[in-house]
Amino acid sequence: DMLEIAAICGSLRKDSFNKKLLEAVERESKGKWKIKFVEINRLPLFNEDIEKGGDPEEVAIFKEKLKGADGTLIITPEYNSGMPGGLKNALDWASRPVQDSVFKNTPAAVAGASPGRAGTALAQMQLRQTLVAMEANVMSGPKVLVGEVHKIIDSETNQITDPRTLSNLQSLIHGFTAFVEMYQKEQ
Ligand code: FNR
Repeated sequence: DMLEIAAICGSLRKDSFNKKLLEAVERESKGKWKIKFVEINRLPLFNEDIEKGGDPEEVAIFKEKLKGADGTLIITPEYNSGMPGGLKNALDWASRPVQDSVFKNTPAAVAGASPGRAGTALAQMQLRQTLVAMEANVMSGPKVLVGEVHKIIDSETNQITDPRTLSNLQSLIHGFTAFVEMYQKEQ
């Protein structure tokens, strides 16, 4: 009965705050979601010439992982007021070929964390726009914009455990569960 949720982290660094946010989602969704982490760090740079020869193995694996899931959650940092290039690259691979775009008519949710106050507002706006272009069904809310994230890392566990953020994540988990289930009924 658990939903299988594919999760992409837009940051590639080991100590990523966004990865910690994703790990907090995993802990908070125990028993409801089976989270499948989908890596984007081995994908080649998108190039239509490469695409002509068929999907490279890493791309094929990436797409298969996304296709099997009930929904996708993307947690991203903000780089220069947008999403990181690596994430956009992954989404461009997922969008091809157009008639078989991975995200077409699938439910997606976005979230993000940054040390700045705006908590990835601009990156999320751009990410939503890209997902809509790919004909994904992006949940409009509840929104998760975690600002000043460096201040809420527990010094003992090195995890995000502050009650306000966890309650925000619970809203996201509840909301996206209902969104995915509503979507499945319509199919
Ligand atoms: C940033 N950072 C950043 N933060 C922000 O809130 N708005 C922004 O536009 C940017 N721009 C930006 C560009 C580049 C190239 C880097 C490397 C960083 C800071 C960013 O939020 C911070 O490094 C986070 O810690 C990155 O997320 P992870 O890796 O901790 O998940």
